[in-house]
Amino acid sequence: MANVEKLRKDFPILNSKNAPIYFDNACNTLRPRQVLDVMNEYYEDFPSCVGRSHHKLSQLATQKVDAARKQLQNFVGAKKSSEIIFTRNATEGFNLIANSLDFEKNDIIVNSDKEHNSNLVPWLVIEQKKGLKRVMTTSNTDNTFDVEAFEQMMNKGVKLVSIVETSNMDGVTNPIKKIAKIAHDYGALVLVDGAQSTPHFETNVKNSGVDFMAFSAHKMLGPSGMGALYINQKHEDSLAPFIVGGDTVSDTTYEQAIFEKPPKKFEAGLQNYAGIIGFGAAANYLKKRVGFSTIKKQDLAINNLITDKLLEHNATIIGPKDAKERSGIVSFYLQGLDNHQLAMMLDKSANIAVRSGVHCVHSWFNAHKLDGSVRVSSYFYNTIKEAQKFNDALDKVLKVMIK
Ligand code: ALA
Repeated sequence: MANVEKLRKDFPILNSKNAPIYFDNACNTLRPRQVLDVMNEYYEDFPSCVGRSHHKLSQLATQKVDAARKQLQNFVGAKKSSEIIFTRNATEGFNLIANSLDFEKNDIIVNSDKEHNSNLVPWLVIEQKKGLKRVMTTSNTDNTFDVEAFEQMMNKGVKLVSIVETSNMDGVTNPIKKIAKIAHDYGALVLVDGAQSTPHFETNVKNSGVDFMAFSAHKMLGPSGMGALYINQKHEDSLAPFIVGGDTVSDTTYEQAIFEKPPKKFEAGLQNYAGIIGFGAAANYLKKRVGFSTIKKQDLAINNLITDKLLEHNATIIGPKDAKERSGIVSFYLQGLDNHQLAMMLDKSANIAVRSGVHCVHSWFNAHKLDGSVRVSSYFYNTIKEAQKFNDALDKVLKVMIK
């Protein structure tokens, strides 16, 4: 088990004079020196094009980007590094699949009722454009996934099941392997939103059997504006190119373009090379320096402590009451209290950063006639002491707010 105090030393902001108690990790994690350094190295030592020029600097940049792709391949258990496509974020991954799959009129797409806008809006748009049908699974009353209901709604007309693995709203993790098996039995493809699961659990796309998985670097210690899309190799020819241009083609004439195989086919133009290298370093850091057993242990210990305090205050927790079902997330609201005001008072009085609002899941909050929640999302560098400080600050803030 990695030592949390030692790991905290890697994060500049946690060692600064005004270090925050950072509980907004589902939105954006902090970054360790190991990630920042390799990105700076790119800009300082070999700031050049990848895969185009033949000089030494370009060769070094190409080697580093290839190595990062392998690190990500290893991180998600893909068979080949060419199955990893670098994107700007998970959102771009969903848009790529929405625009590249050969949908036909009346094809059915299945989402869950808890999708983040990134895995909802592209389907709303494509549904209109191509005359598709979109259906939604309904969660159990405690917001866990209803496998039976899902199985009942499946039929041979479903082309794609696009579903979140761990919800950013309540932390509940869906049984993706089971979902993929059922979907495949009906001939459907499976796209997973791995944005919140990849930072917290060991992911293995070979084992889960999914066809595609979109995820983001900034939720797993990597840079902003970087993400990846896993595309199982068997789909590399059936997917049409999405954003096109330089590097996606092996040859062109004035009339025609000959497209490359992935990953090039899907990575148009000059890429965020520093970001890619930083993303690789983040994956490596999580796997080798931290380890998923440490992440799981910290998630649970912190979530348990904060959950108990919230229940003491009669807060409503979104999702199951049991913290071990909610990864590193506890999302709650208190009847009659303003979520943003509560979040701002925690920030002002105790330097605690949490997120308040609808967490880009407007659809779920609208359907439940709720105006949002306060979300505490932890990561491995958060400590028990920080959770206790959160609880003390909450007691004080609520005393003022409830007066
Ligand atoms: N950034 C979004 C969140 O905070 C996804 O959950």
